[in-house]
Amino acid sequence: MKVLVTGGAGYIGSVTAELLLDAGHEVVVFDNLERGHREAVDPRACFVLGDLRDPESIARAMAKASPDAVMHFAAYALVGESMEHPERYFRNNVAGGIHLVEAMIEAGVRRIVFSSTCATYGQPAQVPITEDAPQRPENPYGESKLAFEKLLRWCEELRGLRPVFLRYFNACGATEKFGEDHDPETHLVPIVLQAALGKRKEVQIYGDDYDTPDGTCIRDYIHIVDLAQAHMLALTSSHTGPFNLGTGTGYSVKEVVESARRITGRAVPAVLAPRRPGDPPRLVAGAEKARERLGWKPRFHELEDILESAWKWHQAHPDGYKS
Ligand code: UFG
Repeated sequence: MKVLVTGGAGYIGSVTAELLLDAGHEVVVFDNLERGHREAVDPRACFVLGDLRDPESIARAMAKASPDAVMHFAAYALVGESMEHPERYFRNNVAGGIHLVEAMIEAGVRRIVFSSTCATYGQPAQVPITEDAPQRPENPYGESKLAFEKLLRWCEELRGLRPVFLRYFNACGATEKFGEDHDPETHLVPIVLQAALGKRKEVQIYGDDYDTPDGTCIRDYIHIVDLAQAHMLALTSSHTGPFNLGTGTGYSVKEVVESARRITGRAVPAVLAPRRPGDPPRLVAGAEKARERLGWKPRFHELEDILESAWKWHQAHPDGYKS
């Protein structure tokens, strides 16, 4: 198939593009390189520099590429930033998404695999979180992703679009070629590995007084290759989802730091810091549905295997793609 990948120069988009190409698909990457990296675009892909906030640029790219399907990764994705600049999140994630949908309708492209998030659930009443849990986002990031899910649902009903919703938990890990490089970096796994490399003094543990066994927050860390596999299955599936993508196992912040110490063999200095506003204590996926309906079989179940792949990439790219 020919797939237009928005955000294909970003972390999850670049790895999915790589796997699509490995599987013999044709890929057109559409990215504005604001937060993505030109080096993260697989050389086998066709690259289009463009911005979803500019309706002309995506309409042109869609008409020219005439893809069989779209995978939509391009978005802002930082909860903290969204609390300071909600308007940016709605402009990019919702208005940009509308331009994408308009371009798809115009070009007669119906299939879209959408990168949604567990942040659309907000504070869960129950963990593991299943897809039928109420969606009550607690930040503009989650709200903007939910708004786009809703638009896609209406366009499915009224405009013949065929969307699939994938709600990610905590994406991490790397392939040999592509890994995680954000500026500034706010995610736990790359921060821990940067501390192991001596690129930062220490890891701050945001709170150890949560209602969890060791007092630190628990998350469901899912390997980026497993996420990418789920996208490829979703591409040809008749199911629309939503599908939670996680392992179903949670690890605490302290466990992540401990695992990083073991696999790197390095000191990972860690200090206690105040809680980060908006962090729910425990987010773990009930991810049976994707296994049953998509036939998804995540390969990476152990946190250490996921960290190991990220560690290899960070060692090869100590300054990220600038290295
Ligand atoms: N954490 C630290 N120190 C750090 C960074 C993070 O203790 O320096 C903690 C956080 O408080 C949290 C856990 O590590 O408890 C994981 O934090 P991340 O920032 O890596 O990831 P989040 O769980 O906050 O965010 C992820 C995705 C978002 C998504 C969100 C859903 O990155 O895109 O899950 O809640 F919206």
